[in-house]
Amino acid sequence: MEIQNHKLRLADFGFQNGINEVIGITQGEWINTAPLGLIVEDAEADKAKIRLYSNHTRKNLEREGVLWVNIVHDPIVFALASFEDLDAEWFSSLKPPILKNSLAWCRMEGEVKGAFALLQLKDGEVLQREVKAVNRGFNAVIEALVHATRYVSLKKPEMLEKVEYYIGIAEKCGGEREREAIEIIKKNVGLEI
Ligand SMILES: Cc1cc2nc3c(=O)[nH]c(=O)nc-3n(C[C@H](O)[C@H](O)[C@H](O)COP(=O)(O)O)c2cc1C
Repeated sequence: MEIQNHKLRLADFGFQNGINEVIGITQGEWINTAPLGLIVEDAEADKAKIRLYSNHTRKNLEREGVLWVNIVHDPIVFALASFEDLDAEWFSSLKPPILKNSLAWCRMEGEVKGAFALLQLKDGEVLQREVKAVNRGFNAVIEALVHATRYVSLKKPEMLEKVEYYIGIAEKCGGEREREAIEIIKKNVGLEI
């Protein structure tokens, strides 16, 4: 469903006030994919920001000025994109970059200023509207990944403890795809499988 004939609003694409966990896609040598927390102060408007650490997303955005965003509810996509770039088989389209099970995609333009990328919504499309109950397993996978990505770069033992804590909840409350995501997390942080 294409959104037309009025000024684009973040809310049209499922963004809410607060931090929205999405898959951010940037163009580098290959298409770079990474989970990102898109910070929205007013979902009725078209501006957002992201705190960016030193990573490929930051480098690509500095050079290209464009961030593609996909809204995804698949724990495996979040897990893989946290540690590596998704290859072509995960995409239904490369121009614009759309992941196969994406619910919506957006193109944002902007620049990196200090710790943040300042972004403006330029284009996008809602692909699927999904009815889904809250699942603590999926939420726990996201929490485990936040701490796992920090652990991979900073190697602080307390971060690994948090990963294990959230994996425990994901195992108890998740389904098959959460369990597959857990295996990806364990492999990347060096926990016993
Ligand atoms: C749910 C989630 C949200 C994240 N949000 C951010 C973020 O807002 N900014 C950031 O720099 N990294 C964030 N990360 C970490 C990056 O996704 C991770 O470091 C990734 O490996 C960076 O990949 P890249 O080097 O390909 O850009 C987040 C990770 C997860 C799991």
